[in-house]
Amino acid sequence: MFDYTQLELSKIEFTEIAPLNDLPPGERLFVELDGKPIVVFNLAGKLFAIGDVCTHDNGPLGDGELDEYEVVCPRHGARFDVRTGKTMGLPAVVDVPAYPVRVVDGKIEIGFLKG
Ligand code: FES
Repeated sequence: MFDYTQLELSKIEFTEIAPLNDLPPGERLFVELDGKPIVVFNLAGKLFAIGDVCTHDNGPLGDGELDEYEVVCPRHGARFDVRTGKTMGLPAVVDVPAYPVRVVDGKIEIGFLKG
């Protein structure tokens, strides 16, 4: 429902956020775009971006520990798949948004729905 990574490319507008060098493997980057807090993960060279607000009680999600492709909310332990934003464990029952990410000329770009 919030998995924007599944949208057609023609419907997406990409915004540059940082040089890829700022996000080495194993690290995460926090940005705010269009008023939305977003965390970008570099998992072994693959980049994933999700909303940085837990849908259980608005906790900051991006500081959570990673368990393979799942991030665990530091507040009450809800789990989300960083690839899709899907909830994977209670107490959260609503997905977080997942955004398409690409690298162009060494710069990380995050995609939003055009409009
Ligand atoms: S705020 Fe994330 S699990 Fe409660």
